Amino acid sequence: MDEQQDRISEQEVIREKKVHGAFWSRIYGGYFQSEEYARPLLDAADAVIQEHQPDVVVDLGGGTGFIIKTLAKDCAEGSARRWVDMDLSQEQLSQVADERITTVCGSMLDFDRCSFVLPEEEVLYLTRSTIHYVGMAGQRRLLRHIRSQMNPGEFFIVQAAAFENSEDALCLSELFERMQTEKWLIPLDSLKNLMVENGFVIDRIIQAPPLVMHSDEMEYRYDVSPEHMKDIVQELLSRYEHPRFLVCHEDGFAAALDYFILVCRAL
Ligand SMILES: C[S@@+](CC[C@H](N)C(=O)[O-])C[C@H]1O[C@@H](n2cnc3c(N)ncnc32)[C@H](O)[C@@H]1O
Repeated sequence: MDEQQDRISEQEVIREKKVHGAFWSRIYGGYFQSEEYARPLLDAADAVIQEHQPDVVVDLGGGTGFIIKTLAKDCAEGSARRWVDMDLSQEQLSQVADERITTVCGSMLDFDRCSFVLPEEEVLYLTRSTIHYVGMAGQRRLLRHIRSQMNPGEFFIVQAAAFENSEDALCLSELFERMQTEKWLIPLDSLKNLMVENGFVIDRIIQAPPLVMHSDEMEYRYDVSPEHMKDIVQELLSRYEHPRFLVCHEDGFAAALDYFILVCRAL
């Protein structure tokens, strides 16, 4: 079962390699390269760094390193703090090109903290827009594994695509399913429960700017023909009442993912 879940996110990553690397900065209106969109997460991380002074900051599924590089840049000169970007995709890591950042090619489902942290060091873990990659069944296991790699009192800040209304989460997860991906969008309440079940205390929840995905970008990313995409959206519109995050326009539609940031502490 565990191996099956590992393969789910590996396959998702392999499948979308063509949008990884240099292309990534342009996808979805430059969301993943924008300081403005990242500001609430950067501020939340900065607050924890200032107050708790972790020795190492690790971005799990950190992609091209935008978040970790921005945090390292903003950090006081002369700090001995270390910065790690861990991702399954070598194409994403190849874009980091910053000597302050250590890149690690590995999976957030089975990493070992000892490979980048000394026993006496304190870690802050971050992750943005990754947990949906492991599918519905993988999320519990993912959070359990991350918790197992933390000491009590350490922080984990997760920005996840999550929905307050479970019908919205279902509709968007179905959109992903129809595009033949295993990605699964979690209702916010379920994410909160999973955190608590896995040994975290949630200190704060902050809403982050939504990610707007246009249908032509999804067609390219997931290899779906425009005709098939039209059928998918028509079916979703007929089955879900007024999904507020699906907006049709002349050339297709836009889907908006809500994001929430959970600032969590390991118990
Ligand atoms: C939507 S991107 C977000 C990138 C980055 N967190 C950001 O916000 O800019 C998701 C990233 O998660 C990575 N990823 C997916 N599953 C992973 C896994 N099991 N372990 C490590 N990285 C993973 C992908 O390769 C991709 O770079």
